[in-house]
Amino acid sequence: MGQDQDKKADDLPFVVAITGASGAIYGMRLLQYLLESSQPVDLLMSKAALRVVKEEHDLVFGEDFKGELLKYLKLPDTVPLRTHSLTDYGASVASGSYRTRGMAVVPCSLGTLGAIASGLTENLIHRAAAVTLKERRTLLILVREMPFGLIQLRNMVTVSEAGGVVACASPGFYHHPQTVDDQIDFVVGRVLDQFGFDNGLFKRWKEESRPIYQALKSK
Ligand SMILES: Cc1cc2nc3c(=O)[nH]c(=O)nc-3n(C[C@H](O)[C@H](O)[C@H](O)COP(=O)(O)O)c2cc1C
Repeated sequence: MGQDQDKKADDLPFVVAITGASGAIYGMRLLQYLLESSQPVDLLMSKAALRVVKEEHDLVFGEDFKGELLKYLKLPDTVPLRTHSLTDYGASVASGSYRTRGMAVVPCSLGTLGAIASGLTENLIHRAAAVTLKERRTLLILVREMPFGLIQLRNMVTVSEAGGVVACASPGFYHHPQTVDDQIDFVVGRVLDQFGFDNGLFKRWKEESRPIYQALKSK
């Protein structure tokens, strides 16, 4: 019985938000890995994220971007992905009664950080993040900026004090990355670690080698 309950918790959807910070690739890779692992995902993309994706990936996404996104990620349209309009406050993720495994804002702009820290709900990303915190689920925000101003540092403290996990898009080098993809996978793997999501995205400290796609094999 206990095991069945655990399994059900593992099958709950992830909420993934991509906002307008540089490093959309982190969000894309996170999404790709979760969906390849048959993990259901509720995806939210801010307007500014659509702009950054144009700059960084040469992708022009309209309001209804799911098909284009899946094509870009080389995923079939049968994967368990749901996308939501940011103005739809009636969406599943706007309610705490919709059970999720938590929410990752990857990357998280300083604007979205500020909204989360001050409890603003000007779009569905902010509302879903507020819901995640109030329901005491894992909220991870992967901030990307340098340097940080005092206001942003204080906002990070506020989110951390409220129970959120504040992370920075800063890959390590102790695993001897050979490619940019290795560095991206290190960051995405550490993001997934915060949710207890088993992954073989990078070679861990003291490990002989990277257990490639362990998560895929175990599914
Ligand atoms: C190409 C590009 C790169 C950007 N990079 C960052 C960044 O790294 N960090 C950040 O906080 N904002 C960055 N911005 C600014 C945000 O997109 C902007 O503050 C926006 O209002 C954030 O909105 P959102 O939080 O709703 O996505 C960038 C904007 C553009 C166009």
